Amino acid sequence: MTIRKFKKSDTTELSKLMIDTVLESNIKDYTKEAVNHLCEEYTSEKILIDSKKMSIFLAVEESKLLGTIALDDDLILRMFVLPKYQGKKIGKKLVHHIEDIARKRAIEKLKLRASITAYGFYKKHGYKKIKETDIKGIGKIIWMEKDLSI
Ligand SMILES: CC(C)(COP(=O)(O)OP(=O)(O)OC[C@H]1O[C@@H](n2cnc3c(N)ncnc32)[C@H](O)[C@@H]1OP(=O)(O)O)[C@@H](O)C(=O)NCCC(=O)NCCS
Repeated sequence: MTIRKFKKSDTTELSKLMIDTVLESNIKDYTKEAVNHLCEEYTSEKILIDSKKMSIFLAVEESKLLGTIALDDDLILRMFVLPKYQGKKIGKKLVHHIEDIARKRAIEKLKLRASITAYGFYKKHGYKKIKETDIKGIGKIIWMEKDLSI
């Protein structure tokens, strides 16, 4: 498994990866309405727009996309690992990759908004809960951050 940067030609497969993961993994913690709302954020059109402002990385094996993570300034976004490949340390490698990049960019503190689904994962990787909020149409999310200088 390698981690590489997103290319325009990945758009359709990346959209499918995020939507399939939301529909199978996040549905356990969120309502159908919330999940549908999230899927609307992960269309090919939106990914192409987002890719111009954030750095998107992909976990790839034999040219198949298995996972993704993005960094927008000091904010981690959109970490997804295909359900079939979860539990194989792909998420861990993606988070370490983004932390290395953040350090190279002299970012001292990384922030994120965790799903209920991913909260335990981020906690395990040193992210601390700042607050919880209810986002209209989605539900509970947990704001977390990690000081990279420690
Ligand atoms: C969260 C997610 C990215 C984790 O990816 P993953 O590849 O399955 O995780 P890993 O295999 O790298 O796990 C690394 C470690 O974290 C632990 N872990 C993983 N998910 C966990 C969770 N939800 N709660 C607690 N610990 C968790 C693993 O047990 C493993 O521990 P170990 O190193 O002691 O064995 C993945 O489950 C996912 O895509 N979830 C749905 C989408 C989502 O909610 N994304 C986040 C949006 S904010």
